[in-house]
Amino acid sequence: MSTTYNILVLGSGGREHALVWKIAQSPLCGRLYCAPPLGGSNGGLADNVVCTPLDHTNPEAVIAFCQSHKIGLVVIGPEAPLVAGLADALTAAAIPTFGCSKEAARLEGSKAYTKEVCDAASIPTAAYAHFTNANAAHDYIATQTCPIVIKADGLAAGKGVVIAETATAAHSAIDDMFGGAFGAAGAEIVIEEFMEGEEASFFVLCDGTYAMPLASAQDHKRVGDGDTGANTGGMGAYSPATIITPTLTQEIMARIINPTLKTMAARGVPYRGVLYAGLMLTPDGIKLIEYNCRFGDPECQVLMLRMKSDIVPLLLGCAIGGLQDMVCEWHGEPALTLVMAAKGYPADYKKGTPIHIPQDASGGDENVVIFHAGTARDAAGDLIANGGRVLNITARGEDIRVARDAAYAAAKKINWADGFYRNDIGAKELGRRR
Ligand code: AMP
Ligand code: GLY
Repeated sequence: MSTTYNILVLGSGGREHALVWKIAQSPLCGRLYCAPPLGGSNGGLADNVVCTPLDHTNPEAVIAFCQSHKIGLVVIGPEAPLVAGLADALTAAAIPTFGCSKEAARLEGSKAYTKEVCDAASIPTAAYAHFTNANAAHDYIATQTCPIVIKADGLAAGKGVVIAETATAAHSAIDDMFGGAFGAAGAEIVIEEFMEGEEASFFVLCDGTYAMPLASAQDHKRVGDGDTGANTGGMGAYSPATIITPTLTQEIMARIINPTLKTMAARGVPYRGVLYAGLMLTPDGIKLIEYNCRFGDPECQVLMLRMKSDIVPLLLGCAIGGLQDMVCEWHGEPALTLVMAAKGYPADYKKGTPIHIPQDASGGDENVVIFHAGTARDAAGDLIANGGRVLNITARGEDIRVARDAAYAAAKKINWADGFYRNDIGAKELGRRR
């Protein structure tokens, strides 16, 4: 193929920086644009990437940009525009788009929808009940044992899940959700059986009928070392997760991913884009916790460092079909990323604090890449923090220890008095390797 495509990536997090970094390496990539949402920024985009904020909630504005810049592929990073139907609008305007339809995005946008798909497709997952009013939910708790999991149905920025250790905690979570603590997201709730086990993420690309397995990863959701403190968007990740063995991968495809895809297609809702399965390896086998309709952040960063193949044909394959005839090659070595966040995150934190990344932070190692998330440039062009999760120090190495050591060595060279990171990213995986 001699054609090149002008490509627009929507989003401004570390996930999107990693996608931009990978796409920029493709011989198929013409002009590359990255559009943060209005008010968003990413101070790390290289000079060859045009950064131009766009209103992601305004499909006409995005379509107009695509038409005036002859965009041949749009890559939608975050879930909110997908759930709002941006991919449908772009597709209707004949703009090839990587990202699922509004109806398909209900797999992330509505927990009750996902559970219903799981029922229809006989997918192993936690037993559940769905409620549209508080009284019935309270009555149900009286018939259940604790711990029990209470979930707001809709998108709640990762905060809509309460693991209630006691019935009292369950009742108060129900009252909070129906009382409006999560706005419209809590107008309906799902109550689930608590699953014991280890969590892992698994990513596949889909073109509506065919699913290509990508890779596994594990995230570190709590803010503090030893998995303590508040939940966050993710403080670090590595890939692959060795608990997801090749046999388990086949089982995930056969029992979870493929039945989901088949059920969605049969309903006239073909799934196109990346499907991210949150999984629990329980004593009774692998079970689905939830689906997301986007790449994980920071899981995407480690996936991009491990992906050997050109990503652009794969993204186009999802958008316009033909994925079945493609292959994705991977570097066998693991990758690890640690998130540098602003002190105070995930609660209040300062913005505008200066960050200095020395030229030699990566130690000249091309397998060490610093992705930016919440950064910006000040008037003088100097780097400042502009968000909670700010930098993703990412490294690939011959084993997880080498990758970890390289990431931490780079992080230690970064001068940011107002930042912090966890000291134990990858510790569990390292323990398994011993
Ligand atoms: P979700 O937003 O559904 O991914 O839930 C957020 C987190 O809550 C998951 O990553 C799990 O750690 C936990 N969780 C959700 N559902 C369950 C469950 N049924 N049993 C145990 N933990 C759960
Ligand atoms: N890192 C977890 C997520 O992206 O949902």
